[in-house]
Amino acid sequence: MSHTHSSAMAITFVLFLAQIFVSVTSSSEADKIISLPGQPEVTFQQYSGYITVDEKQHRALFYYFAEAETDPASKPLVLWLNGGPGCSSVGAGAFVEHGPFKPSERLLLKNEYSWNKEANMLYLESPAGVGFSYSANESFYEFVTDDITARDNLVFLHRWFTRFPQYKKNDFFITGESYAGHYVPQLAQLIVRTKTRFNLKGIAIGNPLLEFNTDLNSRAEFFWSHGLISDSTYKVFTTVCNYSQIWREYQSGNPTAVCAQVNKLVKREISRFVDAYDVTLDVCLSTIDQQAQMLNQLQETEKIDVCLEDETFTYLNRKEVQEALHAKLVGVTSWSVCSEVLRYNMQNLEIPTVPILGELVKSGIQVFVFSGDQDSVVPLIGTRSLVNKLAKDLGLNTTVPYRAWFAGKQVAGWTQVYGDILSFATIRGAAHEAPFSQPERSLVLLSALLEGQPLPEAVFSR
Ligand SMILES: *[C@@H]1O[C@H](CO)[C@@H](O)[C@H](O)[C@H]1NC(C)=O
Ligand SMILES: *[C@@H]1O[C@H](CO)[C@@H](O)[C@H](O)[C@H]1NC(C)=O
Ligand SMILES: *[C@@H]1O[C@H](CO)[C@@H](O)[C@H](O)[C@H]1NC(C)=O
Repeated sequence: MSHTHSSAMAITFVLFLAQIFVSVTSSSEADKIISLPGQPEVTFQQYSGYITVDEKQHRALFYYFAEAETDPASKPLVLWLNGGPGCSSVGAGAFVEHGPFKPSERLLLKNEYSWNKEANMLYLESPAGVGFSYSANESFYEFVTDDITARDNLVFLHRWFTRFPQYKKNDFFITGESYAGHYVPQLAQLIVRTKTRFNLKGIAIGNPLLEFNTDLNSRAEFFWSHGLISDSTYKVFTTVCNYSQIWREYQSGNPTAVCAQVNKLVKREISRFVDAYDVTLDVCLSTIDQQAQMLNQLQETEKIDVCLEDETFTYLNRKEVQEALHAKLVGVTSWSVCSEVLRYNMQNLEIPTVPILGELVKSGIQVFVFSGDQDSVVPLIGTRSLVNKLAKDLGLNTTVPYRAWFAGKQVAGWTQVYGDILSFATIRGAAHEAPFSQPERSLVLLSALLEGQPLPEAVFSR
């Protein structure tokens, strides 16, 4: 009896200690990064760690936060989400695209065009199962949906703002790319609908999946117009069996002979030695056979990562780097850029998010859609037509007619603005991960978004 009693006491005491521990770790101080292995000296603060989004199931999301290089108190807060579904915002967004550092061998090199020059950058690995984020109850991974992702992300934000209350008053933007064409609008919609609002001013999404049929079927024209497939293959790819149909058939695990034939033909002509995420960029030869990101899963063996992703993989898997980041591996043996445990509901790819963009525009949120113009996975052709149609449906008139925009003295892409609230822009020479291959142009685009201004015009006359 008394033995049981004292065990209960002991358990209560352990719980009490655990609570103290929780309250200590829920202050931002505990998340402060002293220094990342190999980093140059910097003047801004970095934080990283976990926010629990479900205590009972021990589900926690990992974030990395780089304060603005100068005057963080007055600069906006920008949340960045990578897509997949299932890929890491820390591995891709922070270390390959627009974070303060890029890994190179044993070192981190300063990124001259880091987005934390303009904003306080918050990178979130979401949903649980991605990167260092985890669910101790692994059943969670079996069937994750857009709804679950959006709800967990909202819980994350509430609790993150509790840990960093000084950022509640800053302008707030939600940004991302690829499958974050779902995550970003869905999270913004939830914020608007639950009237939490924070200080949400705008969203920006790059090469976003917005409407399954339009986005996937615009690949055919992109391949053809960039010389990746022949006239005759273009014809069968648009009349006999198109890409959305091929995707659905492969999802069901039972492709018809005719679509399998078309798929084979397309793959053979494109060849597996070109990067679908940037058809003009050279590939990293060491990784030709690396695993595909999910959005491109039909071209599994063709997915070619750039070498920076290799460097990031090596970097984030170093024990001392994980310790410096306060990260841990739960239920996996290594960190990977796209999750190997998560089973996302692939039916969700077909949920259209264009109507959500409309809802956001109507509630006064700036919506900025951009396209790296060398990407064949979510090509600019489909995206541009979707934004144009949305503007028509909303009755928004053009406020900036389609024109070139500039970064320095070069054309950085083309842009059009509707009703001073809905913007479209291409980024010239940019990949699916636009900030990776066009860092300067992407930073100019971020500045325009944050200032609510159209993209710059030519600063000189010819
Ligand atoms: C784990 O999660 C599954 C699905 O979310 C749930 O049905 C189950 O009850 C959970 N298990 C425990 C031990 O809580
Ligand atoms: C793709 O194929 C499906 C099935 O044949 C068809 O319903 C759809 O209209 C096609 N889409 C395009 C853009 O051609
Ligand atoms: C859009 O343009 C049309 C035609 O010029 C005009 O009648 C209408 O009032 C404009 N709408 C807005 C919201 O400015």
